[in-house]
Amino acid sequence: MRVLGIETSCDETGVAVYDSEQGLLAHTLYSQVAVHAEYGGVVPELASRDHVRKLLPLIRQVLADAHCSSCDIDGIAFTSGPGLIGALMVGASVGRSLAYAWQVPAVAVHHMEGHLLAPMLEDNPPAYPFVALLVSGGHTQLVEVKGIGEYQILGESLDDAAGEAFDKAAKMLDLDYPGGPEIAKLAGQGDVSRFKFPRPMTDRPGLDFSFSGLKTFTLNTVAQHRGDEVLPDDQTMADIACAFQEAVVDTLAIKCRRALEQTGLKTLIIAGGVSANTRLRERLSEALNKVGGEVFYARHEFCTDNGAMIAYAGCQRLVAGQQEELAILAKPRWPIDALPTLS
Ligand code: KG4
Ligand code: ZN
Repeated sequence: MRVLGIETSCDETGVAVYDSEQGLLAHTLYSQVAVHAEYGGVVPELASRDHVRKLLPLIRQVLADAHCSSCDIDGIAFTSGPGLIGALMVGASVGRSLAYAWQVPAVAVHHMEGHLLAPMLEDNPPAYPFVALLVSGGHTQLVEVKGIGEYQILGESLDDAAGEAFDKAAKMLDLDYPGGPEIAKLAGQGDVSRFKFPRPMTDRPGLDFSFSGLKTFTLNTVAQHRGDEVLPDDQTMADIACAFQEAVVDTLAIKCRRALEQTGLKTLIIAGGVSANTRLRERLSEALNKVGGEVFYARHEFCTDNGAMIAYAGCQRLVAGQQEELAILAKPRWPIDALPTLS
């Protein structure tokens, strides 16, 4: 089965063609980062309008790149939630309508399930069951995964998501949006021993997270080291970025180890934008090596939002016979553990 995947849940328009026999045939991505940069974050209305402008040309392009026409497409997968309602509506309307016009089934894909399954697009995919750490701009969750749709949430953030914490800390350091990659870059020049930031909620049992205290700690540290209206000196900024990144990475690693102990599993996958973080990958690889486990993640471009993960997830569900009615479905809130299993 050959599936066209459409992702428009936030500020990236992603389109891909995935074939159940041949794998990923083509994918393309348009990022709206430049549109939102001057506002320091995503402006929902601008996001929706830009998806409207870019989606159809990208679909044409990806079909050409995959050397196929609409007649070769057997199903359409579109991100239905969670995300920004206007942005979701664009992908859902276009995806559902094209499926109707082309007389093929359509399936509504959960954005975080897309992320969770992205490591399956790699050459050496993980085998079920595993623990998944989902770390994006909107979500931080530990999930026990027994198969597609068999998800049990083990813990999640009680306030800010990990990516959101990176973005907010970056703003305090006057870095560009999105802040995660900027903090990571700056942290590379920092001295890890200068500041010690807290590892929130690691001193008590449980698998939930809280990153808002770390945000306040960062703000206070910046305030202590700056003069009137001026930012701290370059080295101090790098040292703060480094201490912040180390605290987030360490907190995530402690909870991942705990989740593996609790479930008795040895395989961890990390997915979502923050899984692109090199320090997080390093830290988890070290930790898992020590206990004979293994950590899996997608290639860089499939950690952040993309169409390939939606085409893959949708393909699995379409092959299993799942499809939507004619209604256009967009769900800004949609718990991942409410998804149906494949059987
Ligand atoms: O998964 P994603 O593309 O979008 C959502 O579903 O939210 O994740 C975006 C988030 C942003 O908060 C961004 O700052 C963060 O992922 N991010 C990173 C890195 N690359 C992206 N955070 C830390 N280190 C990175 N290298
Ligand atoms: Zn995402």
